[in-house]
Amino acid sequence: MANQVFKVNGKSHTVNVDDPEMPLLYVLSEDLQMNGPKFGCGLAQCGACTVLLDGEPVRSCTLPNAIAVGAEITTIEGLGTAEKPHAIQQAFIDEQAIQCGFCISGIMLYGKVFMDKNPRATADEITKGLDGLLCRCHTHYRMIKALQRYGAGVGA
Ligand code: FES
Ligand code: FES
Repeated sequence: MANQVFKVNGKSHTVNVDDPEMPLLYVLSEDLQMNGPKFGCGLAQCGACTVLLDGEPVRSCTLPNAIAVGAEITTIEGLGTAEKPHAIQQAFIDEQAIQCGFCISGIMLYGKVFMDKNPRATADEITKGLDGLLCRCHTHYRMIKALQRYGAGVGA
C-alpha cells in the first residue's frame, strides 16, 4: 500500500492507493465517500464526474489519481453550502435549473470556469463552450439562463 495525500476542498486526506493509474473518481467516491462527482459513462464522454484540478475542469473518471496528488482538487461540494451557496449555485436555484442533479458537477464546474472567462457569453456561445456535457433531464435551456444570471454578477 502507498500513502498518498489528496487535497480536496482545502483539506488534506491521506489515502492508501496501490495503483497510480486508478481513476481519481474512485479515490473521491470510495475512499473519501464524496457523492458530488458521479460515475456516468466512465469514458470521459458525459462530464458527470467533473472536478476542478488547480482551477481547471477535468473528468475524474479517466484521470489517473497520481496526477492529482499535490494539486488543489475542488468538487461541487467545495463551492458552497446549503446555508451559504456559491453565487453560481444560487443562480441555478433562482432559475430552477436542476432536476435530478446527476450532471451538475459537469455543468456547474465547467460553467463556472467558462462564465468567469466569458461573463457576457450568449446562449450560443455557452452551448458551444459546454459542448460534450450531457444532461439526461434536458434542462439545458434553464441551465443556460442560470449561467447567464451568474455571468451578470461576475465582476459586478
Ligand atoms: S463519468 Fe466521467 S465523463 Fe462520464
Ligand atoms: S438534471 Fe438530471 S441529468 Fe441533468
